Amino acid sequence: MRRITIFDTTLRDGEQCPGASLTPPEKLEIAKQLARLGVDVIEAGFPIASPGDAQAVKTIAQTVKGPTIAALARSLSADIDAAAAALAPAKKKRLHVFLATSPIHRKYKLRKAQREILRQSVWAVKYAKRYSDDVEFSPEDASRTEPEFLYRVLEAVIEAGATTVNIPDTVGFAIPDEFGRLIKGIVERVPNIERARISVHCHNDLGLSVPNSLAAIKNGAGQVECTINGIGERAGNASLEEIIMTLKVRPDFYQATTGIDTTQIYKTSRLVSTLTGLVVQPNKAVVGGNAFRHESGIHQDGILKFRQTYEIMRPEDIGLGESRLVLGKHSGRHAFVKRLHAIGFRLTAKELEQAFGRFKALADKKKEVFDEDLAAIVEEELPAAQETYKLAYVHTTSGSDTVPTATIRLTKEGKELQDAACGDGPVDACYKTIDRLTGISPELVDYSLHAVTKGKDALGEVVVRLRHHGAEVAGRGTSTDIIEASAKAYLNAVNKLVSSSARRSYLKRRETLHP
Ligand code: KIV
Ligand code: ZN
Repeated sequence: MRRITIFDTTLRDGEQCPGASLTPPEKLEIAKQLARLGVDVIEAGFPIASPGDAQAVKTIAQTVKGPTIAALARSLSADIDAAAAALAPAKKKRLHVFLATSPIHRKYKLRKAQREILRQSVWAVKYAKRYSDDVEFSPEDASRTEPEFLYRVLEAVIEAGATTVNIPDTVGFAIPDEFGRLIKGIVERVPNIERARISVHCHNDLGLSVPNSLAAIKNGAGQVECTINGIGERAGNASLEEIIMTLKVRPDFYQATTGIDTTQIYKTSRLVSTLTGLVVQPNKAVVGGNAFRHESGIHQDGILKFRQTYEIMRPEDIGLGESRLVLGKHSGRHAFVKRLHAIGFRLTAKELEQAFGRFKALADKKKEVFDEDLAAIVEEELPAAQETYKLAYVHTTSGSDTVPTATIRLTKEGKELQDAACGDGPVDACYKTIDRLTGISPELVDYSLHAVTKGKDALGEVVVRLRHHGAEVAGRGTSTDIIEASAKAYLNAVNKLVSSSARRSYLKRRETLHP
């Protein structure tokens, strides 16, 4: 069995997904969970891109123990200096430098000849080596680079000290057979390749990022770069959970293992979805809501007779309890804590106190409380954003022949603010009232509502995306009352918008990525 290194880039490439912008405390929360999941490397950000990114990388480097912490840099001294400064507190650090090598990028983007690209790549690796022994080099758009030139670049950067050479399929253009052959070519044709680890980084424009990554593993890649839920630039990156479960389900074919604790997968997926506001599609492999649901009678019959007839992995393998009906209103604190541990949550005493109060309130309204409900309750206790405004009271009137009206009370720094407004419906009326109270009127880019579990008394989860002065943020709220959940989600996003440092960070990053 070969041990494959798992390089998670949820906090860097994943965060480049439109609207997925995360605040530094949210990034830290995800990084801690990635460490529990057992990833080998966390790419924590792109420090030159914004002060917020630099701060987030630094905090993660200071706080998160276990994985190597990586930061991205273009092949420029200012980028490498910024990445090195942010990584300084990390026990294990990796500088990840990149430069495009394909003819199309050389001609139109960089306006540089092959020899200049070669020279700058070697220079960047040597410069990065001054800060860390662990240096990764990525020839951006490698899959569209002339193979002979790619081999020369790789040989030169390894000679300069690169310890990992990463082969990005930047635009998701590669086909698994062909990508596998490219990796095989690198193994056979780069003379000093045994001195570096081969990594791959695949995008999902044609839905082939996971098959391409797996083909690369089969042909000699020792590291894969991936993200939770496959989020990332455009159609996203290769999904960590899909790669991991494929290796776990088919060791006969891949003969490869990883250090991932698969029972942490579901929780990590939920956390990333909650904090980015990117809802996981129900039919998504491994972590989608339908991934372990059997609807057809023939399948249900087969499952009852012998589970493996229709199930190649078990829900508990990814941390979803087999018996998902867990608690009710008579359950005590002990059972609550025990169940939280079973699904992977460990809270501080204060967080526990608040979460238990919310559980009791929910159990009063809802007969059965499922694992998903518990996860939703606990996630509301996460220190996601500074809570400038708190929702104290919401009342709406609506119905046929009624003008929908909302009355809302918020608290801000101990002071109460109250107002009312009419709207097209009760949700619109709530949002107009909150706008009046906070003095900002963001654009509602997206609104989604879904039931966390089944049943008429299910907990409703609302995810909104708001845009204001170029910044886009997500917010989430849960309640058995969908109007209250809608107000909470909106306020959660507004709280992120009013934190001006988050907004400044966002604008600076956009500028760096799209000058
Ligand atoms: O997709 C890409 O090419 C990248 C590199 C910076 C590794 O994200
Ligand atoms: Zn990428």
